[in-house]
Amino acid sequence: MDPNTSGLMQRLAEAGQSHLLQFWNDLSPEEQADMTLDLQGMDLQEINGFFKNAMETSSNSKHEKMDARMEPVPREVLGSVTRDRECLKNWEAAGLHCISQSKVAALLLAGGQGTRLGLSYPKGMYDVGLPSHKTLFQIQAERILKLQQLAEQKHKIKCCIPWYIMTSGRTMESTKEFFSRHNYFGLDKNNVVFFQQGMLPAMDYNGKIILESKGKLSMAPDGNGGLYRALGNQGITDDMQRRGIEYIHVYCVDNILVKVADPAFVGFCVQKEADCGAKVVEKTNPTEAVGVVCKVDGRYQVVEYSEITLATAEKRSADGRLMFNAGNVANHYFSFSFLRDVVQKHEPRLQHHVAQKKIPYVDVQGRLIKPDKPNGIKMEKFVFDIFQFAKTFVVYEVLREDEFSPLKNADTQEGKDTPTTARHALMSLHHRWVLNAGGHFIDENGRRVPAIPSLKDGTDLPIKCEISPLVSYGGEGLDELVKGREFHPTLMIDEHGVHELVKNGV
Ligand code: UD1
Repeated sequence: MDPNTSGLMQRLAEAGQSHLLQFWNDLSPEEQADMTLDLQGMDLQEINGFFKNAMETSSNSKHEKMDARMEPVPREVLGSVTRDRECLKNWEAAGLHCISQSKVAALLLAGGQGTRLGLSYPKGMYDVGLPSHKTLFQIQAERILKLQQLAEQKHKIKCCIPWYIMTSGRTMESTKEFFSRHNYFGLDKNNVVFFQQGMLPAMDYNGKIILESKGKLSMAPDGNGGLYRALGNQGITDDMQRRGIEYIHVYCVDNILVKVADPAFVGFCVQKEADCGAKVVEKTNPTEAVGVVCKVDGRYQVVEYSEITLATAEKRSADGRLMFNAGNVANHYFSFSFLRDVVQKHEPRLQHHVAQKKIPYVDVQGRLIKPDKPNGIKMEKFVFDIFQFAKTFVVYEVLREDEFSPLKNADTQEGKDTPTTARHALMSLHHRWVLNAGGHFIDENGRRVPAIPSLKDGTDLPIKCEISPLVSYGGEGLDELVKGREFHPTLMIDEHGVHELVKNGV
């Protein structure tokens, strides 16, 4: 189609984006058709507006200013699995009851591109090298299955936890295909709902959309805060309403220890009558790459690690702990009515964050250039930017070793948040579950491995032990399987029983 006659040329000219057609005559008819389709689906004026606002906000919010406006989370909104131990059973029972009523949904943010891990496929499909070779998706699916079963057993009623999975243009097809190939890991496929977040073009510092090839715009998902727009325009909030969902647990794909639809977290938030809650772990290292939950100008917010100065990150309270220590583990709770309000009313008020990037582009001669310094921006909304709209906001603090080990980076020696650290975190948790349930491990010399391993021999490797989520969601139900028994690693406990694997490649 001729861009003149289709009106495209004029639309681009009005939006100051005519350069996008500079190679039009070099494109094949198919490439021309693809490009026309891409451009027709875009609201260029809106995108220009996003750019203008995002650039304004990012230049206004200089670090110094942000730092001066930050306050830590007050104790009264904080629930803690250690400091409020006596309440834990109660919260868990309350959450499990909500689950048994089929009022709780899990929502997975899986639209990211896994760039740091260097994957060409969705991160949830990654095999971290556990003895079972389960992927992150499978582990999460099995936790949902187990939780449904626990709620059903306790309340003698059939229930379901719908699982909403947000993907992006880049991850949708492969994610769906993966689930279908694995038969939804035993879940009812009607209760696994995929939806797709939006994409935005990368732009240069003058607001011109970047071409990644002569006929293709450089596009990226619009951040995990793209969730709210997608929930509305893909009919997901309507679906939740139809199913009678009242409480939603939103989480990121990369945390191998994630307690999907965590009944204690849900129960805590419900009992506090919160509309919004965030799970945190204590941040102990000032330079750790986690956002911190805090108040900015009196409103709750997560301040990302990239948005804070080292001086503020290093500030300590009188007790010696970091002042801003509520480390965001990207596990959020929303009441349905709050989420619906966000989608219907507040979403347009969310600002895009600006990430300066080295974005490959074609120059005027049509040559592909890979810049060695940032040449443009990507715009992203963040999932937690809606905390500011909550009337009752709560924070729930959990133990890092029990609940947080994200997979971000590829394996390198001494690497942080890698497949190795994720695998070790899971096995070490399961090791502790076995010890707590009265089981023991035997080393290759036939001696009992002490509960607190010594670091001599330089082996701080965890005992190789993996427990299927189909057997235990959070360490429960293991007594009859392990109490008083001794095991040689590798220990595997799954739905078929207790096995000792002689050799493995972990
Ligand atoms: C995220 C949190 C950070 C937290 C850290 C803990 C955000 C914005 N930041 O940081 O505060 O301390 O996790 O591990 O949440 N995603 C999408 N669509 C996108 C981009 C990302 O669905 O367009 C998903 C990813 O698939 C992933 C999650 O969002 O599940 C987090 O994305 P990532 O970019 O890894 O966030 P971090 O910078 O690690």
